[in-house]
Amino acid sequence: MKNKLHFHSTLDEKANLTFSALQKEKKNIGYYALPEQDISSILDYCKTIPTSIESIAVIGIGGSSLGAKAVYEFLKPVENLSRKLYFFESTDPINIKSLLSEIDLDKTHFLVISKSGTTVETFAIYKYILSLQSNPSCYTFITDPGSALEEYAQSIKAHVLHLPDNVGGRFSVLSVVGLVPLALCGVDIQALLNGASKIKKSFFEHGYLHDTLLKKSLFYATNHAQYHINCLFAYSESLKYFCEWYVQLWGESLGKKQRSSAFHVGLTPIGLIGPKDQHSFLQLIMEGTRDKSVTFIQIDDFQDEIKIPDTTLSHLESLDTLNGLPFSQLINMQCNSVMEALKEEESIPLDSITIPKIDALNIGSLIFYYELLTSLVGELIDVNTYDQPGVEAAKIILKKKLNNKC
Ligand code: PA5
Repeated sequence: MKNKLHFHSTLDEKANLTFSALQKEKKNIGYYALPEQDISSILDYCKTIPTSIESIAVIGIGGSSLGAKAVYEFLKPVENLSRKLYFFESTDPINIKSLLSEIDLDKTHFLVISKSGTTVETFAIYKYILSLQSNPSCYTFITDPGSALEEYAQSIKAHVLHLPDNVGGRFSVLSVVGLVPLALCGVDIQALLNGASKIKKSFFEHGYLHDTLLKKSLFYATNHAQYHINCLFAYSESLKYFCEWYVQLWGESLGKKQRSSAFHVGLTPIGLIGPKDQHSFLQLIMEGTRDKSVTFIQIDDFQDEIKIPDTTLSHLESLDTLNGLPFSQLINMQCNSVMEALKEEESIPLDSITIPKIDALNIGSLIFYYELLTSLVGELIDVNTYDQPGVEAAKIILKKKLNNKC
């Protein structure tokens, strides 16, 4: 993975202090240790799921579903995965019914994932599915040790897996929360962790990402009053759900009151997919208010050679320049053209990330890169990156409403 910054940022004493702060928090914040975990117990668990099971369905929301979805949707088009993965995340009744119509209840294993063990959406959906499939062996529960959900699962003699207490929901994709559903579908989860480990080493052991990540986070934090919107512009349809994961990670981690002043701060994430969004949002970046930074993500080798045929269309001869061009080349030419156009505009901070190809190793790297960047920016803008009081407040109000049925 390469990351090139097209804006100027210099390392100062603040960068050293931030690096030290991350080295310190790495001892308590659980996600930093996930790349080195031993996955043998996950692989052993996967062997207990019968081969007659054709589909895996996650029942969970937010950090309990978005990470696995990002990885699965990235790999699905190119890898021959052994099972289909479904996500019951929404209380939209039409969505629930439509997902249920796609699966065979007797050939599906359900993973009920909730760190807190009490999330309303998750348990509304679980209760409904339980009314259709009551066999406890069709369910595995993933939750914090000692949660009420664990006690429930034990009471019905269903399998329970724990995620480490100190791993937050939106940072949990490389824990059992993401690894179990992905491994059950045949994703190479060791490669995923190896990709994350490469990025971790590069940052903490002073590889090339050490300076790049520090410079990028310093720029975002120092200039966040002006450039408070961070667009991720990914040139591959397979990164659509990665963008959703990024929006959650960035938004829920960085939109907070500052620790020292209680002043409201935040960086707003936007996920864009090229070339589609060249024909919509790009205008706003190009000529709109100078409040946005843009990170482009490109896939170097799509490992696909389909080409535009050598066809001339009458009256449209000017489009013969497309003839013979591989689509993989065209999409990257489009991305490079947008970058060049934006560079000419100046005052739009840009950087580009290039992934060599679509595989588990590279999505693991990308995930850990964004987790580290989030931690760095959070430290620099002086927020608690790992809590989510705003989300909690809405959950409490909903519970009150449910009690009063209004
Ligand atoms: O990142 C977070 O903490 C949240 O998005 C949670 O993942 C989300 O609210 C779901 O919570 P839980 O896993 O406890 O059901």
